[in-house]
Amino acid sequence: MRSLRRPPRVMSTKRGSGLRSEFGRTLDDTKRGFPFPAGLGQRLICLLSFAAAWMPFAHAEENLVAAPPELNHCAVCHGVELRGNPLVDAPNLSVLPPWYAQRQLESYQDGWRAPAGSPDLAGREMQPMAAALDADGIRAATAYVASVPKYAPPPSVQGDAARGEGLYRTCIACHGERGQGNESLSSPPLAGQSDWYLVRQLENYRSGARGGVPGDLWGIQMRASTAVLQSDADVRDVVAYINSMSATP
Ligand code: HEC
Ligand code: HEC
Repeated sequence: MRSLRRPPRVMSTKRGSGLRSEFGRTLDDTKRGFPFPAGLGQRLICLLSFAAAWMPFAHAEENLVAAPPELNHCAVCHGVELRGNPLVDAPNLSVLPPWYAQRQLESYQDGWRAPAGSPDLAGREMQPMAAALDADGIRAATAYVASVPKYAPPPSVQGDAARGEGLYRTCIACHGERGQGNESLSSPPLAGQSDWYLVRQLENYRSGARGGVPGDLWGIQMRASTAVLQSDADVRDVVAYINSMSATP
């Protein structure tokens, strides 16, 4: 078994390397009792100023589903109607079924995703948010996720979708032909998810940053399923194909 605890590394996606290395440098701060992963305070302040700047535009759109007051902070990172925000690595939650959102929140709580010292730095941002929820909070959060309309963000990952279609054949058994997911197999929908997030999660499974903790049977199963993805190009190609499914109604 490979050890989970390895030094933080700078993730290999092209975006945001400055922020990630800032996180990497200051990870130790979490051990000194700072309540959030290092750098989070600054990023939240930054975000709140962005949010204030966008307020008039948000109001211009009608009938937006508002966050319940106690869950306002979810939308600060995950965006208006939880559509995701690549600037802070926060994925689109609007496509997630409630059973999957709930299980992922519990996965963070159980230390299956992003435990202390994990190289999954984006996951370390999310972990304290999940840890702060009690059972009622998790129920409210999943109800909130279920209440927003499904939204598919514009694609950002370049890859060979035709090649990706071949690789995706191995995924169909669990995630479905149209990437719609399968609750009885605990497999989430992939179509419509932020594509940069799919890339990062596939990298996390490949490196063992996700699906590397004993007991996390679903994660372990998914990690084994990435054996077919042998390179960064394979990951991009399969995600390019998943993007093409999102475009099909
Ligand atoms: C500080 C920013 C931040 C806040 C606040 C935040 N999140 Fe997140 N969330 C993230 C990031 C970043 C990720 C991606 C983590 C990763 O890559 O592993 C994430 C991931 C998730 C996931 C996993 C999605 C998936 O498909 O695997 C869920 C579910 C989630 N957040 C729900 C919530 C809820 C509910 C709230 C409010 C209680 C919340 N988040 C508040 C940043 C945030
Ligand atoms: C044997 C069933 C199975 C196969 C085959 C499989 N997956 Fe998964 N996948 C899962 C399960 C179960 C999860 C949820 C794991 C967890 O809770 O961490 C998952 C999670 C994921 C996630 C994380 C999504 C999120 O929102 O957090 C991605 C991305 C993903 N799979 C992509 C793929 C791709 C691409 C393939 C094919 C190369 C594939 N999977 C093959 C079962 C499978």
